Amino acid sequence: MNFRLLIIFLSFVAGNICIAQSNPFAISQAGLDYLTGQALFEKTWVSAPSSTRASDGLGPLYNARSCAQCHENAGRGKPEVALIFRVDDEYYGKQLQTRAVAGLPAETQITISYSSRIEVLSDFDEILLYQPHYQFLDMLTEPFPFSPRLAPSLAGVGVLETIPLTEILAKADPQDGNGDGISGRAGLGRFGWKADVINLEQQTGLALSVDLGISSELFPNPEGDCTALQGDCLSRSNGASGQDQNLEMGQAAFSSLLSFLRNIPLPAINDSNRSSNSGKAVFENIGCMSCHQTGYVQGSINPYSDLLLHDMGNALADTLDDELSKEWRTPPLWGLSAYQQAAEQYYLHDGRARSLLEAILWHGGEAESAKQAFAALSKTDREDLISFLQGI
Ligand code: HEC
Ligand code: HEC
Repeated sequence: MNFRLLIIFLSFVAGNICIAQSNPFAISQAGLDYLTGQALFEKTWVSAPSSTRASDGLGPLYNARSCAQCHENAGRGKPEVALIFRVDDEYYGKQLQTRAVAGLPAETQITISYSSRIEVLSDFDEILLYQPHYQFLDMLTEPFPFSPRLAPSLAGVGVLETIPLTEILAKADPQDGNGDGISGRAGLGRFGWKADVINLEQQTGLALSVDLGISSELFPNPEGDCTALQGDCLSRSNGASGQDQNLEMGQAAFSSLLSFLRNIPLPAINDSNRSSNSGKAVFENIGCMSCHQTGYVQGSINPYSDLLLHDMGNALADTLDDELSKEWRTPPLWGLSAYQQAAEQYYLHDGRARSLLEAILWHGGEAESAKQAFAALSKTDREDLISFLQGI
């Protein structure tokens, strides 16, 4: 009822001040879709059967109860909930789920410990870097190939989706034809830390299925990531029967969720002070922009990423896939400004870096020479570069 009043009020105002708008209702409808999508993003799912049929279907296996639990305010997650482990296993499926509905054991519990090493900078400042080590409890098979991945910020994902594929492919240089030591290669798609997901529709379907255990049109199996070998898991009741298209999330809700994702705003850029201006020049001069690129669609889209995969060296490698183990998609750096107030910060694919400085010092492989150049900078230049990053 409130929404209806709001729509009428908005069209009335638009009419009065003569904004040229052919169909004000269409705009309000999009706004409503966004709000519905946001509510779905934040909604806490429960296991079936429950009295609230529209919110049940969680699991049987899951990692969290809502999208927002991992992507807080559509931002980056914290490792304790939002660090997931991709696997490729006959028994465990595509991902390890650390939670399960009542009566069903979760697949594992994971503990993280860190070893540290010292990186010395030009002015003899010493920085500690922490390498994570994982222990998987109660699993049938170990050691286990896996790929840890922390939930990234979703600010601007809708804009990334609109970059024409040809512009991304134009930046790829898989054989390093130009001899700059950097050989970006295109992944299967542009989303995810391995650039293996084509678009937001796929990513949302996948997240619903493997992170929450919710079925939708693209991944219609209500058991989510339970495999044929996990009989106990398959026998649990689900929230699909009797629902729209027998899906735990029907098409209408799914498309509202997408319209929310496509319109998550980017934070305002704050790069106008002296240090961030000079920091931007340093960022360009030492080679950061070979990968953290800008200038798509005639310069209107500037994510600071080429959305390509790069060999980042052994220290960052996972163990899931030999061919791709050292390769990671350049993460977009826009939106970092919104994260700077966070009391604890987590950077890189597994959240191991606790500051921008640490994140940069972990760069290796194709980024080794940029990292060396960074470590050799004067303290002022280094701080200016970081202050530039903090403002974008
Ligand atoms: C358990 C934690 C978790 C939950 C719950 C979760 N995500 Fe994610 N999300 C992640 C992780 C981790 C990644 C990175 C995945 C990868 O790299 O393969 C990710 C990636 C994404 C991306 C791609 C971002 C990019 O820049 O590549 C989108 C979009 C997304 N999630 C949307 C959603 C939506 C929508 C939901 C709810 C249906 C959701 N996520 C639920 C952890 C989570
Ligand atoms: C060869 C390509 C390449 C170059 C050159 C490069 N980066 Fe990166 N950068 C990456 C990739 C890939 C990652 C993600 C690695 C990971 O998560 O394991 C990354 C991650 C980051 C992150 C963390 C982002 C996040 O969301 O957690 C920051 C900050 C960053 N780079 C800054 C820089 C700076 C500053 C420079 C120049 C000194 C630089 N990068 C040079 C490819 C590159």
